[in-house]
Amino acid sequence: MTTGAITADGRARILADGNQMPMLGLGVWQVPNGAECVNAVRWALDEGYRHIDTAQAYGNEESVGKALRGSGVPRDEVFITTKFYPSHKDPVAEAQRSLTRLGVDQVNLYLVHWPQGGATWAWPGMERARELGYARSVGVSNFSVNQLDEVIAAGTIQPAVNQVQFSAPEYRRGLLDACRQRGVALEAYSPLGTGRHLSNETVMRVAKRVGRAPAQVLLRWCVQREVPVITKSTNHERIGENAQIYDFALSSEDLVELDALDQTNGTDLALERKWW
Ligand code: A2P
Repeated sequence: MTTGAITADGRARILADGNQMPMLGLGVWQVPNGAECVNAVRWALDEGYRHIDTAQAYGNEESVGKALRGSGVPRDEVFITTKFYPSHKDPVAEAQRSLTRLGVDQVNLYLVHWPQGGATWAWPGMERARELGYARSVGVSNFSVNQLDEVIAAGTIQPAVNQVQFSAPEYRRGLLDACRQRGVALEAYSPLGTGRHLSNETVMRVAKRVGRAPAQVLLRWCVQREVPVITKSTNHERIGENAQIYDFALSSEDLVELDALDQTNGTDLALERKWW
């Protein structure tokens, strides 16, 4: 079933502001700036990824920019996300610094990384960054429904995206439904549970049944739930494996089995514990 928010080829999510976000992206959280990050992004672009997710807090925007320039893939074919580090004060000034580090004129998506100091204070600066053309779309990350509603009530434009920890074992159905109702695209990070979910018995059983790798099953589950997903790997082979998710489908029985892994009780919270 599609809601009309996915492109006809199934490979991109249409955001409320009309921009399109590829369903699969490479995330570079915890990848050190330097050769390891440059290689991972370069391999991802070689393997067909057109969506890279970084953040000011990761300290590796320079490497993302370097890999992009070295790849030969035209800038306008790649969706780049970065995130405002909310220990800093000014989303506009920090966006300018990100653009310099990335070596691009504009990012596709700029997110408030987490709601530190309250949900709304950074939002006017995010809107301003968009007006100035530093970002085509703006959104938030790690926001629960209540925090999202605060931003929507206070803002001129609403967040296009809420990027949260989301996977079959963290199937935050309340948050997903609330985002849908508000026209906000929920985007998944840590879809493999940073590796933990790969050895889950149900995931392994479904993987065996469909003849695919556990990582592919977990990523495909997100895609079939119409949730754009970013996953991290620094290994060329695994980066390639994770891109092969459009040549098979999970049955409705597979999906139901995976849905039942949820440990969050269908929460509308983005996080069980905050880290700031
Ligand atoms: P590596 O970078 O060595 O490939 P998540 O996307 O949930 O954050 O999970 C990322 C973790 O899962 C990383 O530790 C990554 O390790 C590992 N990983 C990513 N893709 C695969 C895969 N296809 N098979 C096994 N492990 C993977």
